Amino acid sequence: MIFCVAIDGPAAAGKGTISKAVAAYFGFAHLDTGLLYRAVGKRVLDGLDPVAAARTLTAQDLEAGDLRTSAVAQAASKVAVIAEVRAALVTFQREFARREGGAVLDGRDIGTVICPDADAKLFVTASAETRAARRFKELSGKGQPDTYDQVLADVKARDARDAGRAEAPMVAAEDAALLDTSTLSIEEAVAQAIAIVEKSRSSAL
Ligand code: CDP
Repeated sequence: MIFCVAIDGPAAAGKGTISKAVAAYFGFAHLDTGLLYRAVGKRVLDGLDPVAAARTLTAQDLEAGDLRTSAVAQAASKVAVIAEVRAALVTFQREFARREGGAVLDGRDIGTVICPDADAKLFVTASAETRAARRFKELSGKGQPDTYDQVLADVKARDARDAGRAEAPMVAAEDAALLDTSTLSIEEAVAQAIAIVEKSRSSAL
């Protein structure tokens, strides 16, 4: 059984939490595609050329411990505008999407570029302030020094860069279900996402 769920949306919208929960519920595999761009961004911060970093990315690079910092997030969104960087990561993502047993991919261009024929598409969003507050809590829980204002600035800068780039800009696919999580608890957001996927799954069966 091949079934692809595409989950896109702006920075810190809750895509990761929702994607993991959807994947666990349906028994699908999950790929956080942001991690690929973060790993490339981290390698660039370490001195590599972005295109070479993307072309030679290994599983080990994805396990680097410090990929969730704001500095790496900014570096990720800077390398993500480069067409050759994105091209180097396409095959891996498309193969993952077609894996036997079902797959959930989350990112910015999954429903538009990586899997335009995805069986279910969601675009998860929330106000910039809500997203920054959630990310601030997450980062301070890990002992990272960013202030709320810095996190809000990071979120807004990445949104502008991600939505404004020429190559695979962040945009909701025309056929994506919109899920605004601003006023939802995690449980409510997950339940709504599962219901959306369930609907597509029953019509695909
Ligand atoms: O977790 P968060 O939403 O903050 O970010 P992420 O999903 O880890 O993505 C980090 C950065 O990678 C984004 O700001 C995008 O610039 C880039 N990205 C992308 O261009 N395309 C994707 N499919 C996933 C991430």
